[in-house]
Amino acid sequence: MRLVPVWALRPGMRVAKKITGSGGAVLLNAGVKLEMEYIQRLKKLNIRGVYVHDNLIPDIYVEDVILDETREKAVSLVKDTLTGIKNQENKKYTHFISVKKELSNLLDDIVGQLLSNKNLTVNLSDIRYTDDYTFGHSVNVAVLSIMTGISLGMSRSALKDIGLGAFLHDLGKVVVPLNILNKPDRLFEDERLEIEKHPAYGLNLIKGRQLFNGPTLSIIYKHHERMNGAGYPQGLNGDDIELYPRVCAVADVYDALVSDRPYRPGFMPHKALEIMEEESTGYDLNVMQTFYHHISAYPVGTIIGLTNELIGVVTHNTHGYPYRPRVRIICAREDFAPLESYEIDLLEDLQVAVDRVYHDHELPEHVINRDLS
Ligand SMILES: [Fe+2]
Repeated sequence: MRLVPVWALRPGMRVAKKITGSGGAVLLNAGVKLEMEYIQRLKKLNIRGVYVHDNLIPDIYVEDVILDETREKAVSLVKDTLTGIKNQENKKYTHFISVKKELSNLLDDIVGQLLSNKNLTVNLSDIRYTDDYTFGHSVNVAVLSIMTGISLGMSRSALKDIGLGAFLHDLGKVVVPLNILNKPDRLFEDERLEIEKHPAYGLNLIKGRQLFNGPTLSIIYKHHERMNGAGYPQGLNGDDIELYPRVCAVADVYDALVSDRPYRPGFMPHKALEIMEEESTGYDLNVMQTFYHHISAYPVGTIIGLTNELIGVVTHNTHGYPYRPRVRIICAREDFAPLESYEIDLLEDLQVAVDRVYHDHELPEHVINRDLS
């Protein structure tokens, strides 16, 4: 299966992974054949891409690092928690004890699933609604932070702490007006300053509750601080930023870059990594390198051009080697002439490198629709 942007979908394509909408409702189930009417509806709903069964890699199923049910449960629980903290400021202490217990059980599940995964490489982009951005994003930041924490050798309880802080890191955004958060145009100075208050808003919302510990508070308040002092709200320097917010900062920026935002579509992972490298003085170098090991610069299903003048589709990525996927060759670069299909593993063939990504519209139909099943 392969992720296809909505504008490139055609009637007859078969959905490979169910599409859920706001609040977890299933919009289209796996196996459904797309019709023009469905495609129009997906466009209206601002869904930007769909995983479809694909003839180039019919045998490859792209799996998430955690179970779909766990991710869905996490998004809905994080949504309830963030909006609940905002709306129920005066609600009884016992209410928050039960919320915290639920979050803790969920984190046990997520940490357990990630610890038992042998090849912790992110291949899948989740498809999410603009309105639900903060909640899906918070879950992603938690998963990416926990994965990084595992490689940094953190204990199980530290992994849960970082996960809880990441779930709540953008809590303060629930009080920033939605018309500013979702503004499709450039922000005015006062609007930017309002958004930059979200770490302080978040801290104020939970600081009196005595339920959340130091790591959670430091993630909420410091995830936009940068090692070189260029962050906000305080412009702290590296020594004053604990490890937890350093990890969340890297996960937060990466996930924001690859996500569709009201003012721009998401960047491809290789581009997001490039952008982060340009700003690398802002991040903890060890954290950033550790994080990179979990990312696929070219996720499964990406069509890439190789330096050996061939075009292929990515079929596998290995933890620790974001730029060296296994590739199924489909055609020649020069004239797009179909070639007998075979796979090369860039981890073994070190003479060959990836030097560009192709989008569907840049390739002739016979390449995209080639049947390798
Ligand atoms: Fe934030």
